[in-house]
Amino acid sequence: MSLSQYRALGRSGLVVSPLCLGTMTFGPGEWGADEATSREIFRAYREAGGNFVDTADIYSGGASEELVGRFIKEAGARDEIVLATKFGFNDSSSPLTASPEGGGNPHAGGAGSKNIHRALEGSLKRLGTDYIDLYWMHIWDGVTPVEEIVQTLGDLVRAGKIRHYAFSDMPAWVAMKAATIASERRVPGPIAMQLEYSLVARGVEAEHFPAAREAGMGVMPWSPLAGGFLTGKYGREDTSDKGRLSGANPFGDSKFTERNWKILDALKEVAAELDCAPAQAALAWAVARPGVASTLVGARTARQIESNIAATELRLSEDQMERLNAVSAPEESFSSSLTGPAIRKMLYGGHDVIGLAGLGAPPSRARGS
Ligand SMILES: NC(=O)c1ccc[n+]([C@@H]2O[C@H](COP(=O)([O-])OP(=O)(O)OC[C@H]3O[C@@H](n4cnc5c(N)ncnc54)[C@H](OP(=O)(O)O)[C@@H]3O)[C@@H](O)[C@H]2O)c1
Repeated sequence: MSLSQYRALGRSGLVVSPLCLGTMTFGPGEWGADEATSREIFRAYREAGGNFVDTADIYSGGASEELVGRFIKEAGARDEIVLATKFGFNDSSSPLTASPEGGGNPHAGGAGSKNIHRALEGSLKRLGTDYIDLYWMHIWDGVTPVEEIVQTLGDLVRAGKIRHYAFSDMPAWVAMKAATIASERRVPGPIAMQLEYSLVARGVEAEHFPAAREAGMGVMPWSPLAGGFLTGKYGREDTSDKGRLSGANPFGDSKFTERNWKILDALKEVAAELDCAPAQAALAWAVARPGVASTLVGARTARQIESNIAATELRLSEDQMERLNAVSAPEESFSSSLTGPAIRKMLYGGHDVIGLAGLGAPPSRARGS
């Protein structure tokens, strides 16, 4: 597989690479890359055939969008690139940008129509373009009715300002409700979900993956290397001065848990068998998971992105996939417990009936772990 083995994102005609270039690192910041390095990362991704670039209005306080827009212009590649950006976080209170103690404008965040229109105008200006290919709701705000979100984003599709829209970091029911409203009303609906997903974060398999499959949405994992943890550069004894996770983790949770160290041990074994870096094996695992449409890859240096792109050439054997699935298996949740073979036998007179495309079973079950 190479970056130019394009696939449609969800049930849409938007054709994207199996790895999407994440640009959260572009711009100033503790774990960011300066303009020259960001340009090298962008160039390395493009030279490998990549066509899919992801940014957000809040990344580096808007600098990421400015850099991405500049690089696309320099490359003269606006028509070839699928340009994705996001709205939602309040530009005056995000933990990723300067944070005044309260007093911010409540209309400068969330998924209400007023903010979406404001945020989109800002992104178009910073990106130096007049349309966005894929516009993401960055995070569910817990307030705006789903009907308003579908109406606002659908109208923007019809106005030609965005080509498609999608949801990141939301409960599965929100995406499902939006998809249902859209299909019932014959209006544009969300085509993808962007979710934290990696060998150490598989919680979304129970609810989100089946919802995405049912609604025709492609899943895009973010932090597939768990912010660098799955590169293997951190060790149980020494987690200092290695990279982003050595400092305060902006996403709150620590990756340095006993469970995660065990997963990393198994990953290193598989990587040694394949004679590759653990990061490459971790990416190959994510790319191969059923339902995954395109995986976001982030990098702080061009060398990192080049090494990560090489993961698309790797194939994990069935045995290697199963070992990694087993050591990283998520705890059973209420909904995943409903779809197991024991329950199906109770329903079907002792037969373990398999539904269409493994319907009802989360991907881990469908793969036998
Ligand atoms: N929707 C959301 O809420 C959300 C949240 C987070 C991210 N995202 C998107 O997903 C993208 C990827 O997320 P992420 O950056 O967290 O992904 P990640 O792949 O889990 O982590 C990337 C980081 O790991 C380290 N790394 C990567 N490759 C390496 C290698 N080969 N060797 C050593 N270290 C390596 C680098 O950090 P260091 O060198 O500093 O260690 C790099 O910045 C972002 O750019 C963004 O577009 C979305």
